[in-house]
Order: sequence, then structure tokens, then C-alpha cells
Amino acid sequence: MSGRILIIDDEKDMLVLLGRIISDGTEHEPVTEASAFKALELLRERHFDLVITDLKMPKVDGIKLLEQVTKINPDISVVIMTAYATIETAVEAIQKGAYDYITKPFRRERILLTIDKAMKWQEIVKENKTLRQALAGKTNLSGLVGSTPELKEISQRIKQVAPTMATVLITGHSGTGKELIAKAIHENSLRSSKKMVTVNCAAIPEQVIESELFGHVKGAFTGAWKDKKGLVEEAHGGTLFLDEIGDLSLHMQMKILRLLQEGEHKAVGSLVTEKTDLRFIAATNQNLKTAIKEKRFREDLYYRLNVIHIELPPLNERKKDIPLLSYHFLKKFARANQKDIRTISPEAMQTILSQDFPGNVRELENIIERAVIFCRTDTLEKRDLYLDNEREPLYPDFNEDVNGLDFKTAKEKMIRKFYREYIQTLLKKSNGNVSRAAEIGGIQRQYLHRLMKETDIDAVDFRNKFEKEV
Ligand SMILES: Nc1ncnc2c1ncn2[C@@H]1O[C@H](COP(=O)(O)OP(=O)(O)OP(=O)(O)O)[C@@H](O)[C@H]1O
Ligand SMILES: [Mg+2]
Repeated sequence: MSGRILIIDDEKDMLVLLGRIISDGTEHEPVTEASAFKALELLRERHFDLVITDLKMPKVDGIKLLEQVTKINPDISVVIMTAYATIETAVEAIQKGAYDYITKPFRRERILLTIDKAMKWQEIVKENKTLRQALAGKTNLSGLVGSTPELKEISQRIKQVAPTMATVLITGHSGTGKELIAKAIHENSLRSSKKMVTVNCAAIPEQVIESELFGHVKGAFTGAWKDKKGLVEEAHGGTLFLDEIGDLSLHMQMKILRLLQEGEHKAVGSLVTEKTDLRFIAATNQNLKTAIKEKRFREDLYYRLNVIHIELPPLNERKKDIPLLSYHFLKKFARANQKDIRTISPEAMQTILSQDFPGNVRELENIIERAVIFCRTDTLEKRDLYLDNEREPLYPDFNEDVNGLDFKTAKEKMIRKFYREYIQTLLKKSNGNVSRAAEIGGIQRQYLHRLMKETDIDAVDFRNKFEKEV
């Protein structure tokens, strides 16, 4: 990236010198100005990426100037130059938002390095700003983040179907955002002032799901001490979200079908049929067509549920959403942990993008949450991610060598391997002479003999080889 740098110093010689260093040593365009007042005017008129300014000038001092500069452009980097190595003033400048300071006289390399760092920082700041702005425009639909065509299409469908009474079936792998979509539909519906009640069909035991859903009357079964309302009644007027519906038993599927078709249900142990007003949303990570073939899912229920179908693609198929989602989660967890982390370094982003994400968005969310906890600066770095596949094995076959072994066996195998490798190297160096090998390795000859015996190494092999080769 090439940018524009404004240099402010009352010494003309310094302006010429710095201007030359920048135009010779970088791709950036230097603009020099001896008057602080004029410099501020320039800043209002044109875009600059970096300001390098003297700290001690007649009329204006650098700190005041810094304040003015950041007022005009809060994102600009400012590097302070000071002839007096007054650390306090330099520190004050950093506290007031300067990027860095250098003391005069400086070497060419030193100033070039500072410029390079400051410009890279500018790039991150800009990128960050763009992503933040993008984020601001992408979360309007109940926290749903994404800008890929796949996600836009889904948002569009949500907007269309939310205000209707149509039943929606949401399918997709684990962690792709099914529950989030269900919430978005409810929140954008005409029932948003009422509740959305979630029933996790996989988590509630078969024996209690019926009474959980429909309630029971006193004495319906042992332990039913009094009448109890069910979730269906609780959701009256709102939305009933049947999560993991593929896990529902055939018996319960029949009851749900009745609820869907007639809007009717009976509390367990009751003879009275009750009517409820519900909007249905269902979700599953199972393939319901396969479940139908295997007679685990009722076909008639499937068609009732599948009026509107929203299929969520795995995160791998919409990788372009990863940066935006990462920033979304960064913001969420930085706030939750009261940390001021604003940026994800380019290396960290690259590492994130190289992941497979079998756990989809939830996995990405977990990675960012963990990284936020480990992060110690205002930038999330690659080292904060602790991603397994980033770790090099000890040697290429290491993982294969220890695969499936318990710790003790693996350790013994590795130690034996080490002995063999090490001793063979020694013997090779000593041309099969054990005394000499022991000397090279700095170990006792008897000990080496014992190790050789234990690891089935014969010195003769090395001697023969040597003689043959000679
Ligand atoms: N597009 C998205 N924008 C923002 N956050 C998302 C998005 N998709 C998923 N998430 C977040 O990822 C996490 C997992 O999403 P959710 O629980 O909705 O997935 P799910 O498909 O219901 O998963 P499971 O099948 O495991 O129940 C949630 O914290 C959710 O807020
Ligand atoms: Mg879910």
C-alpha cells in the first residue's frame, strides 16, 4: 500500500531530509510543511495516512498539535519527533493518542522502520473500520451476521415469511444457526410481543415430553400432585419452536400432527380438548427424507412442517462470511469480558480462514471466545487462537507413531526410538567402535553396551558396513 505522509517541522533542513528519506526509501508520498497552522489546513483538505511532527516548535507545541490533528481525523497515526529525549513528554504524547515517538537525531533505518510499522497499523485500522461499518449494516435482522449471497437470500426469506402464519422447517448441520433463524422469524413476525417457546425434542425424556408439551391434570400419573400447564399453552398467541424435531418419537409425532392440523391438544389425563393459537417453527439437523424411508418419521407430518423450507449451508460453503462473523464475535466477547480488543491481525485471520469448521458457526464462536480470553493486547493475534492444526508434530510420523497408545506405552516407544536413533548416530561416527562412540556421546562404555543390548543394536553391523564401504 502506498500512502501520503505529512511532515511538520519548523526546521527546513529537517523537512528536506525526511522528505528525501521517505521518497527514496518508501512508496509513500511525503508532503512537508513548516507551519503547524498551515499543516492543519492541509489535513482538513486532503487525506493523509500518517503525520510526523516535531514536538518543540515556536508558537505551537507538538502535544497541542497532536490534539488538533486527532480532532480532524481520529484514525490518523501520528509519530512525534523530539530533539530533547524527554521521555515524559513522549509518554504524554502516546497517552494522547500518538502512535509512536522517535528521538532526534535518528538514523535513516530507524525512521523507515517506524514509518513502515505506522503505515501497516493504518492499514489494519482502515480494514477494521470497514469491517465494523459492514457489521453495523449487517446485524439488523435479529443479530444475523453475513454478507454472502447465501445469507442474503436467507435474510430475504425470513423477511418474507416472518409476518405470515406459515410453518417453517429449518434444516442444517449442527451449529449453522438454526435456532438463531427461528428467533429472527419470531422477532420479525406480528407475534413478536408474545413469547417464542422452545421445545428441545431431543433433550426431554420420552416419558415426560407429552406432559411437558401439553400439561397434565392432577392425579394423571404418580407424582402429578396438581394441574400443570404445558409449553403449548405457554406459547399461546406466540410461536412454538420445535427444535430437533427429527428426534421425536412416532407416538409424539402423531400428537404434534394433530396440534398442527386442528390446533387441538389434550393435557395428560384430561378429557377436555383445548384449542391454542400458535405459529410453528421446527428445526432439525437430520435428513428427514431418510428418516421417512427408515420409518422413523411420519411423512404426513413432514409435509405439514415443510411449508416453507430454510436450509442453512455449512460455514465451509460460505467462507466469505468468516471475517464478518469473527468481528461480530470479537465484539460480543470483548464486551462480555470487558476487554478493549478491536482488531484481528491479518495472520490470525488467515489462520481462522484455513480451518475446516465441522462445528460451523458455533465452532468459530468458540474459537474467538477462547482467543479473547487469552488476548493480552488490543489486537487478536495468531498465538491467541491456539488452533491444533497450527502445531507442528515433533517429526512427520509422530502422530501416527503414538496413535491409540496410552501415555506409558507411547513414552516407552518414544524413548526406545530415541535410544536407537542416538546410538546409531554415535556408532556411525565411530565406525562401529563402541569405546569411541561412548566417548563421543559422553557416556560410560558399559552403559552404552547395555543400551545397545536393550535396543538390539549390534556394533558389528556398523563395523562391517564400514569395512565393506572401505
Ligand atoms: N449468521 C449468524 N450470525 C451471527 N451469529 C450466528 C450466525 N449463525 C450462527 N450464529 C451463532 O452461532 C451459534 C450457533 O447457532 P445456533 O445455536 O442457532 O445453531 P444450531 O443450528 O441451532 O445448532 P445445533 O444444531 O447444534 O443446535 C449461536 O451462538 C448463534 O448465535
Ligand atoms: Mg439448535
